[in-house]
Amino acid sequence: ADRDRQDRFDETVAAESRIEPRDWMPDAYRKTLVRQMAQHAHSEIIGMQPEGNWITRAPSLKRKAILMAKVQDEAGHGLYLYSAAETLGVDREDLTEQLIDGSAKYSSIFNYPTPTWADMGAIGWLVDGAAIVNQVPLTRCSYGPYARAMVRICKEESFHQRQGFEILYELSHGTDAQHEMAQQAINRWWWPSLMMFGPPDDQSPNSARSMAWKIKRFSNDELRQRFIDMCVPQAEILGLDIPDPELNWNAERGHYDFGPIDWDEFFQVLKGHGPCNALRVSHRRRAHEDGAWVREAAAAHAEKQARTAA
Ligand code: 3HC
Repeated sequence: ADRDRQDRFDETVAAESRIEPRDWMPDAYRKTLVRQMAQHAHSEIIGMQPEGNWITRAPSLKRKAILMAKVQDEAGHGLYLYSAAETLGVDREDLTEQLIDGSAKYSSIFNYPTPTWADMGAIGWLVDGAAIVNQVPLTRCSYGPYARAMVRICKEESFHQRQGFEILYELSHGTDAQHEMAQQAINRWWWPSLMMFGPPDDQSPNSARSMAWKIKRFSNDELRQRFIDMCVPQAEILGLDIPDPELNWNAERGHYDFGPIDWDEFFQVLKGHGPCNALRVSHRRRAHEDGAWVREAAAAHAEKQARTAA
């Protein structure tokens, strides 16, 4: 029986069909999906903080409304992904505990500060741009609930990227001071955005199995390269410079060559030593604690409803 259920699993993955929650799956497949989906959900929730920081200071009502809509979208993405992770038998309460006790990972990119309004543009254009490059292939992930969550999320991400590009375009073509503010934001966000795609393929312990199981469809380096190739012409339209002196079109490869990424910085941030790691986790913990009374009230209300309905 073990042999046939493993065969059935392998055939389903090989046929590009979907593994669904009630299907048998290898423990290691379940484990790596919980790992990735929980971190993805945490990234969405923590990702609300850098931008939330500017909602009260947006330069116009239009910009405030757009930024509020984007931050609310991120919250929704987090909830879809926690729900998708729960189909694998984990509980979002436990996942949230891991996030607020600092033991869970979330995307390194959100551990950087957002000192100016132009950072909202850089996050939209670069961070959401990178998220799209990474998430579109995930709509073809072998695990059904994750792939389906990605379809909805990718639709909303394209609005996020567009509004970021537009913020930068306006600033870049504004006063000299505004142009400089946009350029400084790109200088701060370019390299950390490349790190979002994960370590180089030869330092990526999860990639081989993730790709064999068709969770990861393209390698970290492949998607990073795709992102760089996409950004260079867009930066030209923005009239902003990408802060990499070694960026150069390589006609032979059909891609842009680029300079070395500071992987020490990446692994430092993963260890919790980024500029904002402690701030992000303590803010999340405070929000969770401040929200305890709401959860208790909602649970008590639901119980009362159930009692009166019975
Ligand atoms: N930040 C934090 N941790 C990272 C990371 C990053 N940018 N990149 C890699 N890591 C971690 C991995 O989680 C892994 O640690 P673990 O084994 O303890 O989980 C370790 O570094 C080695 O990396 P691998 O390449 O072996 O790991 P993966 O195969 O999981 O690849 C990944 C990493 C490409 C990020 C993959 O997990 C993935 O595609 N995740 C889903 C996408 C995602 O999380 N995106 C977050 C972007 S932010 C976002 O979506 C918000 C947007 O709406 C703005």
